[in-house]
Amino acid sequence: MPSWDELFKEKKNILDFPQTEVMKFVDRLESTFDRRPLAIWDLCCGAGRNSVAIADMGHNVYSSDVSPTGVNNLQMLLNSKDCHCETKVCDMSVNPWEKRDFDGVFCWDAIHHNTIGNIRNTVGMVHDSLTNGGLFMASLLSTQSGQYNKGRQIEPNTFVNDKGSESGVPHHYFDQKEIIDLFKDWKICILAEVVVNYIETENEFYKNNPFPYTKWNILVMKES
Ligand SMILES: C[S@@+](CC[C@H](N)C(=O)[O-])C[C@H]1O[C@@H](n2cnc3c(N)ncnc32)[C@H](O)[C@@H]1O
Repeated sequence: MPSWDELFKEKKNILDFPQTEVMKFVDRLESTFDRRPLAIWDLCCGAGRNSVAIADMGHNVYSSDVSPTGVNNLQMLLNSKDCHCETKVCDMSVNPWEKRDFDGVFCWDAIHHNTIGNIRNTVGMVHDSLTNGGLFMASLLSTQSGQYNKGRQIEPNTFVNDKGSESGVPHHYFDQKEIIDLFKDWKICILAEVVVNYIETENEFYKNNPFPYTKWNILVMKES
């Protein structure tokens, strides 16, 4: 049953290009706040592709993930660079820094790897860690996704696959009502369900699929 830590031990599982949505989130932060550098937390940073890109832009980056192998990869990428990026290995529900004034936090393709109770704790912790007016961006799985209902259900809308590259990793799927409830203490700036409708697929297409799956994207603000 491979964990993300095991997956990151193989180069083929490490993406090296930054996520477009994350770069646009940094644009949004730069137009929201005049101060420089900004303090940006890459929550569940994986092997560090987004952290490195943002640190290269001159911002102060804080990166955490439960996978030591992912965080080591990020540290290797940072070795030859003169930029600010602090790394920690820890669970997503924990703020390992004293900082409570982050300008922005993002969690790309990760926060749903949990049970709903831990996801709620994580969103609450992010709220406590942001400055007033600070922004949080996340992608979350949708109950409209083709992967919904696959695997063993361990609680409502949370499934664990016993086969495949993410076996053993929980996946929580959200409908609109639950996602709005999850962010009830925030100002929702943008909530979008990005729907991808697969019309024809070859066998096991998901093993090497360049296209995305149906997901929620959310951008929220901590109000004072
Ligand atoms: C699909 S990868 C995304 C990585 C990164 N955000 C990116 O876009 O490249 C999911 C990440 O979530 C991390 N993760 C899963 N459960 C976690 C937890 N409970 N606490 C912290 N990180 C976790 C994994 O180690 C993995 O790095």
